[in-house]
Amino acid sequence: MATRHFLTLLDLSPEELRYLIQRAISIKNGLKTHGPTYTPFTNRTLAMIFEKSSTRTRVSFETAMAQFGGHALFLSPRDTQLGRGEPIEDTARVLAEMVDAVMIRTFSHAGLEAYAAASTVPVINALTDDYHPCQLLADIMTWTELRGGVKGRTAVWIGDGNNMCHSWINAARQFDFQLRICCPEGYEPRQDILDAAGDRVTLFRDPREAVAGADLVTTDVWASMGQEEEQSKREAAFADLQVNEALLDLARDDVLFLHCLPAHRGEEISETLLDDPRAVVWQEAGNRLHAQKALLEFLLIGRVDG
Ligand code: CP
Ligand code: NVA
Repeated sequence: MATRHFLTLLDLSPEELRYLIQRAISIKNGLKTHGPTYTPFTNRTLAMIFEKSSTRTRVSFETAMAQFGGHALFLSPRDTQLGRGEPIEDTARVLAEMVDAVMIRTFSHAGLEAYAAASTVPVINALTDDYHPCQLLADIMTWTELRGGVKGRTAVWIGDGNNMCHSWINAARQFDFQLRICCPEGYEPRQDILDAAGDRVTLFRDPREAVAGADLVTTDVWASMGQEEEQSKREAAFADLQVNEALLDLARDDVLFLHCLPAHRGEEISETLLDDPRAVVWQEAGNRLHAQKALLEFLLIGRVDG
């Protein structure tokens, strides 16, 4: 059977994704009740290639492997042969001889696809310039935990049409909810990704109009990793798109606010928004651990009951 990879949310069927969310919730409950006693990965290893910075992704994958009885290896281009020009396809073949799965955070999504094509062990996208599917597993898990389900509901993305926005679009397709995207002109998500989502996704320019009656609001930094030089230009372009308490007041009374983090207080969110009870970002960040465990288990072992 062909190796399963997780490069975008479209690599799993909607039914498989729903299973993963429920499984992540169940793994989380098991950890709370019994502690880290479930160790299905004894002696298994995950290679983690990070070409960009990370706190949550690294810590959650590393902790997931440790709690499951396995081990994770942190590999940076600075001190591997990747940084000295060894072709990624060669690295993929070599690592597949030794480890059970590979997680990659990199710039080019095409580079990640090239790596995966050469890998006989599962490859997981831990963020590229175009997508961040692991974050969406934690986000949909959080939304599901707190509101019982996401089908037919309405989420609003405020800000840049970036990697997170693209993954929210894919999530709207796979989990069957409506997504409103509010971005400035020139910062829209990729047209082909939008087109594939059809009428599940609608573009807005006015954030007040976008959030009216919404179930969930989310945003992200205005300048992503690799765009640091555009910071001031972007601050000007996004100035009217700050998410604050007054904006959330226009959504449903039980609206949730998510942010993948790290956040820039005073830019894409107000100084105090993360202290508002509608913001559930710490639970969201913690859910990265449980969602990643469910994903690793699915890719390395398959479905598990309970
Ligand atoms: N949200 C997220 O992926 O965070 P890190 O960049 O810290 O991994
Ligand atoms: N869009 C952000 C997400 C960070 C988790 C970035 O790519 O830097």
